[in-house]
Amino acid sequence: MSMPEFVTQRGLIVWAESPEAVSAIEQFEVNLLGLTPRAADILTQANEFTETPLVQAYAALAMLYSQSQNGHAGAEGYLRAARRCLPGASKREALFVEAIEHFQRNAFHEALDRLERLTVDEPRDLVAAKACEFLYYTCGQHFNGERFLWHMMRLRAANGAHAGFLSMLSFAYELTGRYGQARAAAEQSLALEPGQPWSHHTLAHLLIRTGQVEEGVREMERFAPYWSACDRGIHAHNAWHRSLFYLEKTDWAQTNRVLREDIWELSPELVGEQIDAIALLWRMDMAGQAQDDVWVDVLAKAGPHAGECLIPFLDGQFTYALARCGQTDAADEAVARARERAARKDREAREIWQPVGVNFVAACAAWGQGDAARAAALIDPIVERLPMVGGSDAQDDLFRLAYFNALAESGRKADARRYYDLIAPAKTQRTPLDELMLAKCN
Ligand SMILES: [Fe+2]
Repeated sequence: MSMPEFVTQRGLIVWAESPEAVSAIEQFEVNLLGLTPRAADILTQANEFTETPLVQAYAALAMLYSQSQNGHAGAEGYLRAARRCLPGASKREALFVEAIEHFQRNAFHEALDRLERLTVDEPRDLVAAKACEFLYYTCGQHFNGERFLWHMMRLRAANGAHAGFLSMLSFAYELTGRYGQARAAAEQSLALEPGQPWSHHTLAHLLIRTGQVEEGVREMERFAPYWSACDRGIHAHNAWHRSLFYLEKTDWAQTNRVLREDIWELSPELVGEQIDAIALLWRMDMAGQAQDDVWVDVLAKAGPHAGECLIPFLDGQFTYALARCGQTDAADEAVARARERAARKDREAREIWQPVGVNFVAACAAWGQGDAARAAALIDPIVERLPMVGGSDAQDDLFRLAYFNALAESGRKADARRYYDLIAPAKTQRTPLDELMLAKCN
């Protein structure tokens, strides 16, 4: 029997039931790397191409991007289908399916190991590379920055002129503090595709981390029109980045406008949108700009995800939301779930939940309850390891800022002052928000 084997436009061999199934595989790569709303098409295509392992595995991956227990449960059926039609497929496809099976079971490190191995032989598999980028985030993207960068460097020769690849490379440079190279790679990507939202995202990161607020405002306003046509996740996330520049300027009106028009409540069921909203609302709390009405709506959608324990980064923010809105029992319950997660016998428990996750989620509950001394005491022993909870450099700055506030509010003002400069070491000048925060140490 001859193998139904095809070669994609990017030169990868695939086992597929028809040329239309190959086209679905090719489109998914384009849509995932370009962060377009069409990436979700793979879910309907999976109903059509039930014998093609990569279509099924890509549908599973699309579900896992939801960052929710529901999404993980929904991925299972696709993976079962992928596994069933795997005999005869290539080593790359088998390894990919195996990796996503680990991802589905929350074995993020195991998934990463396999995908990194896959791209050694198949450096042009950008879906595998993009999935790695997401897994670095779940395992702490800032913490894994060097590992991310080395991976992207290894793929550079095979993908150098691909706008989506360059956006990942630029972000890896940014996360490791190589701001000049990050900017060059992002600009090279944008020269190829001016609307590449992940390259806009790299620039948002590097401009906020280096304190270039005016340029940040200008660039984000220039890029924003592209985002509403993108996948909703990146639309909300890039809008969140945009809001951070207004926040630095203490421009509350603009911050609020972006919160209410671009971040919150376009797709309130999405965990990504919930997290972007919480992360901004929490920062606004610390700046004395509490938006209680938005908190109520966000909590109604986000609260039920507390205790899912995919990664501490998510649970901590859900727990803060609960505690901050007065749902103390539910917040305590979420902390108890984190302790149970840490007691399990897997690598994530051993490497993340035990050493940092439990303290972190408990601190988020304390922050929400306004118990600054307790929050500070819980973070004290893990402050260096905060990036292990998950999230990027800019995302984890929220927790560093919260720690600073806890120190200042619990009377440890000298500690707070010392710590403030460690939050964004590459920031070149103080902003109005810095002044507002530092005034808490007087
Ligand atoms: Fe980001």
